Amino acid sequence: MPPRKIIIDTDPGQDDAVAILLALASPEDMDVLGITAVAGNVPLELTQKNARIVCELAGKTDVPVFAGCDRPMGRQLVTAEHVHGKTGLDGPSLPDPTMRLQDQHAVDFIIETLRREDAGTVTLCVLGPLTNIATAFQKAPDVIERVQQIVLMGGAYFEVGNITPTAEFNIYVDPEAAEITFKSGIDIVIMPLDVTHKALVTQPRNDAFRDLGTPSGIAVAQMTDFFERFDKEKYGSSGAPLHDPCVTAYLIAPELFSGRHINVEIETQSDLTRGMTVADWWGVTDRPANATFIGDLDADGFFALLVERIGRL
Ligand code: BDR
Ligand code: CA
Repeated sequence: MPPRKIIIDTDPGQDDAVAILLALASPEDMDVLGITAVAGNVPLELTQKNARIVCELAGKTDVPVFAGCDRPMGRQLVTAEHVHGKTGLDGPSLPDPTMRLQDQHAVDFIIETLRREDAGTVTLCVLGPLTNIATAFQKAPDVIERVQQIVLMGGAYFEVGNITPTAEFNIYVDPEAAEITFKSGIDIVIMPLDVTHKALVTQPRNDAFRDLGTPSGIAVAQMTDFFERFDKEKYGSSGAPLHDPCVTAYLIAPELFSGRHINVEIETQSDLTRGMTVADWWGVTDRPANATFIGDLDADGFFALLVERIGRL
């Protein structure tokens, strides 16, 4: 099978960085057409810069990086420096990028790419708030039916929220964008906290990254050292969850993951539960299934894949 054509839409973020490294290390599986940055974990000036830092770390300076929306569709931006640090990539000390940012707006790149490539051949891998994606769909509704699939990190159901009691960060930041995406009719695969909280970087797993002895392996270990403090304190877990790499790992090895094809709706109105992904896991409504909601993964297989691939960089 030829590699799958993907656009990575992202707000790096240490876990976004690992997801991007995995994709860039896997050319036989994924052809990264471009990386589109969005405001999320930190403001857009930092996420677009961080995306370029990660490409340079991987030695893949030919991948075009675009800056997109600097705020949610209809709300103030909420950021997560409390998790990711001031730069969004706190932990390793990485040089400022020298590769240039593309002039084109990320939303226009997404639209142009979907129109240029054969219909049904481009997958959107979304690692942050869905602002760029939904803005593209609003601006150019004709591209919606051309998307092969959306694989995204966002939401939670049994695991409930990490930014409010009921909402996961990526969906909470731009619930209107999430609603547009989930109502688009596109084939969607969701990696919610229910699965990403099982992708924990324990000490031996982090040692395996560090032991690679390469700049990428060491940087991944240092990033994890930094952002695990938050989850350890909050959840008492044995390490940091690698949320976003579940997206790119799924495209390489879907057999590592399991879930259900169900209805998922986004709460946009309630002050109490805004950004909640209301997942009909038990099929108690007649609402049609619109997404595959992943609930479990083979964590050892997932980390073996990450170490093997990142070891190539
Ligand atoms: C998601 O929010 C961000 O903090 C992470 O990068 C991930 O995409 C987890 O809730
Ligand atoms: Ca992210």
